Amino acid sequence: MSTFMFETNMLLLLLLLVGARGDTESNEPSYDMPNSVILKDGDTFEYIVVGAGAAGAAAAARLALAGAHVLLVEAGGNPNLISRIPGAAMALLGSTIDYHYDTISNNMSCLSSVGKACQASRGKCLGGSTSINYMMYVRGNRNDFDSLNISGWSWNDMKPYFLRYEGLQDLDLLPASSIPYHNTTGTMKVEFFAKFDNPWHSRVIEGYKTLNFPYDPDINAISQIGVSQVMGYTYQNQRMSTARGYLGRDDVKSKLKVAKYTRCTGVIIDDDNVTRGVTVVTGLLRKLRLYATREVVLSAGALVTPQLLMLSGIGPAEHLKEFDIPVRADLSVGDNMTDHTLALIFIKVEKNLLEGIFDNTGKIFSSLEDLILSGGSSLASIGLTDVTVFVNTLCYDFEKHQLTNSTSDCELPTTQFIHAYMERGLLKLGAPFLPQSVGWNSEVIKQLADISENYVILLTSSLVLQTKSQGTVRLASADPFKQPAIFPNYLADSQDIEEIVRGVRIIQDLSNTSIFKGQGASVIKLNLEGCPDSSDDSDEYWSCYARHMTFSTFHSVGTTAINRVVNTRLSVKGISGLRVADAGVMPKLPRGNTAASCIAIGERVADFILEDNANSDIS
Ligand SMILES: Cc1cc2nc3c(=O)[nH]c(=O)nc-3n(C[C@H](O)[C@H](O)[C@H](O)COP(=O)(O)OP(=O)(O)OC[C@H]3O[C@@H](n4cnc5c(N)ncnc54)[C@H](O)[C@@H]3O)c2cc1C
Ligand SMILES: *[C@@H]1O[C@H](CO)[C@@H](O)[C@H](O)[C@H]1NC(C)=O
Ligand SMILES: *[C@@H]1O[C@H](CO)[C@@H](O)[C@H](O)[C@H]1NC(C)=O
Ligand SMILES: *[C@@H]1O[C@H](CO)[C@@H](O)[C@H](O)[C@H]1NC(C)=O
Ligand SMILES: *[C@@H]1O[C@H](CO)[C@@H](O)[C@H](O)[C@H]1NC(C)=O
Ligand SMILES: *[C@@H]1O[C@H](CO)[C@@H](O)[C@H](O)[C@H]1NC(C)=O
Ligand SMILES: *[C@@H]1O[C@H](CO)[C@@H](O)[C@H](O)[C@H]1NC(C)=O
Ligand SMILES: *[C@@H]1O[C@H](CO)[C@@H](O)[C@H](O)[C@H]1NC(C)=O
Repeated sequence: MSTFMFETNMLLLLLLLVGARGDTESNEPSYDMPNSVILKDGDTFEYIVVGAGAAGAAAAARLALAGAHVLLVEAGGNPNLISRIPGAAMALLGSTIDYHYDTISNNMSCLSSVGKACQASRGKCLGGSTSINYMMYVRGNRNDFDSLNISGWSWNDMKPYFLRYEGLQDLDLLPASSIPYHNTTGTMKVEFFAKFDNPWHSRVIEGYKTLNFPYDPDINAISQIGVSQVMGYTYQNQRMSTARGYLGRDDVKSKLKVAKYTRCTGVIIDDDNVTRGVTVVTGLLRKLRLYATREVVLSAGALVTPQLLMLSGIGPAEHLKEFDIPVRADLSVGDNMTDHTLALIFIKVEKNLLEGIFDNTGKIFSSLEDLILSGGSSLASIGLTDVTVFVNTLCYDFEKHQLTNSTSDCELPTTQFIHAYMERGLLKLGAPFLPQSVGWNSEVIKQLADISENYVILLTSSLVLQTKSQGTVRLASADPFKQPAIFPNYLADSQDIEEIVRGVRIIQDLSNTSIFKGQGASVIKLNLEGCPDSSDDSDEYWSCYARHMTFSTFHSVGTTAINRVVNTRLSVKGISGLRVADAGVMPKLPRGNTAASCIAIGERVADFILEDNANSDIS
């Protein structure tokens, strides 16, 4: 019910907006989504790609452009209109195009979430999670790839693939030293987010500068360190998902077959351990067998690809036996799941408040109206979220309140700060939707909603980049319609907590800079059940706080990692004709948001397949 209402509100907004600017529509390039094919039992293709997300859309499009006969199978339909609006990204959490999976609590994280269970959002439509994510374009650190020490997966192996798809619109706004790191003509357009017209945008940047954080003009070039304005996967004020960047292209639409609302339920593997195709359920529960004469690629994401493998007999043998699933390959599928885990830190601001969303009578106030009247650009802005910080917290001098650059490791960030601006009244207005969208329990929502009534709130996420805690994905049932058992196990390793507490201390220093203090800023200390009194500001309080106010960026990797489950060409070990290409193949988290790497993985698997099949004729 709440989801519906929230979307309806957003939709109303959008319709008003489109009405006001209808004249500009015709000048925009066509990004209509592909039509869906009608499938019959026994239909045969050269390749079947499962999942049209970050990696799957790229892989399927490249194979089709190379002339192969490819079917792309996707559980969802087209992304909705709200998905196109960068400023509405938050409204997609918990919406109808978010799987919003249940997770199992470890009783050590997300303690202020409903059921003490962490949220697991993922996109359910063409474009997958790139249709609901925050669009931040970050490749990570070259060291992330080099330190893997896996042949074929160094930075120099990855860089050509990052460049292949990048369509940077704003090269002229970057320093000349950035040029070798970018491509301006690739299919995934990226650009700076539309300007956020609010003094806090520059105040936050200035605040970090006071703490000696350098301003980094381009985190995807020489250095990641400092405060920066991140670019986004947007183009002409709208989201650039992989659905738009790959599947909406006319040359792709004319070649690639796409089956929407079609859910893969398993892989068909013959007695010789050769992949023959997939089983799917489409439309009104029609069960079909579809065949691939060459290969099947699983790109259902790090949470569902393991489930599909296990349902097909590929996984930990003992676990599969519990469900009477015959073992095809005994592999540690679903282990070693790691995710960028964060604590949400709230700064309240007393002074120079704008009018806020509510006036005193509780009516929706002028800023919402302004939002509509100002046309596209304010909705194309992602607010404060384009201000991002990468820092090695071990290089921060907590005595001097200054970032140092004393060792070469200082170039390797350990924490990312992500920001959001919440207009006065927003959390009050949004309170009814918060359990569904962010999953907080009523005690926390009440505290924040009350503060929100009188203050602007600056939200800072202190995010651990090299997470030590590991979770698992397992089968909960042999029924493919049941979701897998997802055990994120955030903050199980105390090193992750220590990293977050260092992040909190830096944010406290930020709120104590003169530019913040001048606005009456202070970090909010929530009253949390079972936590020490907040008044002595102890590390124990903030550790406990982090265990309560845990959140995720939904960057899980590692569940089908290279060398453990797939080889370096992404083929599943012991099974022929089956590859995995999605976030799960990354053995380790990159120091940055994961979509950039996932798209590169999709590009790469297409190359591997085309090279490896160049001289074979299986059919
Ligand atoms: C809310 C949110 C915010 C994020 N913010 C950012 C960000 O700002 N920047 C960034 O770089 N990254 C961000 N990420 C992460 C990034 O989007 C993901 O890491 C990336 O999209 C994962 O790619 P993937 O190919 O592994 O899976 P996905 O993109 O999730 O795609 C999986 C696809 O498989 C489909 N599928 C699943 N099961 C089946 C089935 N049984 N049969 C058929 N199809 C199926 C799904 O519907 C989906 O389309 C965010 C993610 C979320 C959820
Ligand atoms: C968490 O606590 C609940 C309730 O006490 C318990 O049932 C569950 O097993 C615990 N989970 C873990 C992972 O310890
Ligand atoms: C990298 O891998 C090679 C071969 O597997 C091994 O010999 C070498 O010691 C590894 N290097 C590092 C730094 O781990
Ligand atoms: C840049 O993108 C174009 C278009 O996709 C591509 O042909 C070209 O190879 C890319 N350049 C690099 C350096 O990858
Ligand atoms: C298929 O894999 C299983 C499990 O690893 C193995 O026991 C069997 O011998 C393999 N079959 C063939 C024909 O290679
Ligand atoms: C992966 O998980 C297994 C089992 O949980 C664990 O023994 C192993 O150390 C993990 N591997 C890595 C690289 O963390
Ligand atoms: C830190 O110092 C190294 C040299 O030791 C230099 O290359 C790098 O640019 C410096 N980084 C910052 C953020 O100043
Ligand atoms: C805040 O900054 C002032 C100087 O501007 C300093 O005296 C004070 O100790 C700082 N407080 C904290 C908690 O760091």
